[in-house]
Amino acid sequence: TLLDGLQDSLQRAKAIKFRTPYQTNPCTREALNNGEFAFVDLHLSQLAQEIRYGFYGKINVAIVEACDVTEDGEIVPTTGVGITPTICRLADIVIVELNKKAPPKLRGIHDIYELQDPPRRREIPIYEIQNRVGLQYVKVDPNKIRVVETERDGEGSGFAPVDELTARIGENVANFFVGEINAKRIPHHFLPIQSGVGNIANAVLSAMGDHPDIPRFEVYTEVIQDAVIDMMQKGNISFASGCSLTVSNEVLQKFYDDLDFFKKKLVLRPSEISNNPGLVRRLGIISLNTAIEVDLFGSVNSTHVNGTKMMNGVGGSGDFTRNAYLSVFLTPSTAKNGAISCIVPKVTHEDHTEHSVKIVVTEYGVADLRGEDPRSRAA
Ligand code: COA
Repeated sequence: TLLDGLQDSLQRAKAIKFRTPYQTNPCTREALNNGEFAFVDLHLSQLAQEIRYGFYGKINVAIVEACDVTEDGEIVPTTGVGITPTICRLADIVIVELNKKAPPKLRGIHDIYELQDPPRRREIPIYEIQNRVGLQYVKVDPNKIRVVETERDGEGSGFAPVDELTARIGENVANFFVGEINAKRIPHHFLPIQSGVGNIANAVLSAMGDHPDIPRFEVYTEVIQDAVIDMMQKGNISFASGCSLTVSNEVLQKFYDDLDFFKKKLVLRPSEISNNPGLVRRLGIISLNTAIEVDLFGSVNSTHVNGTKMMNGVGGSGDFTRNAYLSVFLTPSTAKNGAISCIVPKVTHEDHTEHSVKIVVTEYGVADLRGEDPRSRAA
């Protein structure tokens, strides 16, 4: 129907055979867990290059949302970039969904830069998160472009508010960081934060903003959620870089209303840049992601409930965790009103091994696994 998003329509028509790298839609989740199509769970930083390498075959049609498109082939994306530059360049036909609800004034917020493939790849010249290295638009051969006009709101469904449990996790995270700064293990001006997807990460970030001893910080992340936008307006976050906004419609409107402000303080990049492992290590990103379960070795399951049911996908959690200055995982100690422990003897599916996971935080406190051997990690 006209009210459906593209994803729901294709889903209902059973037109999807294969999907990668990530999803958050409940219908999609149900269908893939029922085996209706193949789903490949992939580190987001890798998708654009793997498409270029030819691992997924030919791209025939790219469908991208834009706020502006010009006759000479400049496509200005809306609030998501992802793999847009790569698929637009490789596809035979580019269908541009020109969304009248997204202001053309977004032009200037994007930094579109595509990597060369080995052996010609050079370093990405981003040394501070504010650096811009690319174009303000995706440039394609105008002959490939077909424009479809739409007038659609965002599809953001909003986040659970901070509650007692998430506030406690947030306070534990904030106190831990303050201790690390005082101990000079983190520079006193702090380091850029990557913040994961979902309710918990959103609430924890917001609780960090309320902590009096956490300095103003920068965000270098994949998905920018509600808390980041709120905290930028309050002045807790000085600059943010990401590959998309995943915000509630209310926050999206706030963002559009204050676009001049955000264009000075926020940049949207392709996912192979926002999640680039080399940049994560160079910039000293502190990663904050949420686990489904954590085990006594310190390994983390981010994706599969009980080892079999896919939740969303690994997303960028691996891109950041493995390369972070310090990797942190958050989890309430239990799920489903206390019926399921999120701390288990052995994870039922392993996304992040003990070698990558440094800090685990629940509402009860912080397990600092740095320098601990397997016996002491368990304790
Ligand atoms: N067993 C069973 N269910 C569990 C569970 C467990 N151990 N842990 C969490 N869940 C369920 C919750 O009950 C909830 O179910 P519901 O949707 O039916 O209410 C659901 O998982 C989401 O959990 P919630 O507590 O609301 O957390 P969240 O919204 O913060 O999401 C993840 C947590 C792990 C699902 C989410 O962060 C994610 O998809 N992570 C992987 C990708 C990633 O980290 N990306 C970041 C890189 S930028």
